[in-house]
Amino acid sequence: MFALMLGGVIALQSCGGSTESKTEAPAEKAVVKTETPAAQEEPFAAGKKIYMEKCIVCHQATGEGIAGAFPPLKNSDYLLADKVRAVAQVLNGSNEVMVVNGQSFNAPMPPQVDTKEDAVAVINYVLNSFGNNGGTVTLEDVKDVVIKPRQ
Ligand code: HEC
Repeated sequence: MFALMLGGVIALQSCGGSTESKTEAPAEKAVVKTETPAAQEEPFAAGKKIYMEKCIVCHQATGEGIAGAFPPLKNSDYLLADKVRAVAQVLNGSNEVMVVNGQSFNAPMPPQVDTKEDAVAVINYVLNSFGNNGGTVTLEDVKDVVIKPRQ
């Protein structure tokens, strides 16, 4: 009987110990929350979201692509030469032999986005990421691009 009671006392004590450590957690969470608004003010946030969802798998987080398969978007002479063509390519896909920074690519890229708004947003993100300083393209610039019917 005494052993049983002793066991109960020890259990109570260890319980009290864990309550103490729990009281420290909320303070840490409050610090993390104050940093969130600054991250949301990032320019080209909408385009970045599309890039992370759709483009990163081929063109990579660095924008360097994969040699022999997926062309680079970082420092791409081909991209910087024609922003409207780039918007058309993400809308309608691309299946041609192209030379990007002296390297030849000819794997097909399927259509990536369905609206000009999304296409302009992601290309503007790309034009200003990975060290690119490629300016921007507007919806007005791409008014003549025709979105081909999806199969
Ligand atoms: C399935 C892999 C794949 C995905 C996903 C993909 N691409 Fe591509 N991309 C390619 C390939 C392959 C080419 C070369 C196409 C060709 O030769 O006609 C290319 C070419 C390009 C080009 C022109 C060439 C250059 O490097 O400047 C741009 C711009 C481009 N992609 C942007 C994007 C954007 C933006 C996205 C996301 C919305 C995207 N791509 C998603 C594979 C992909």
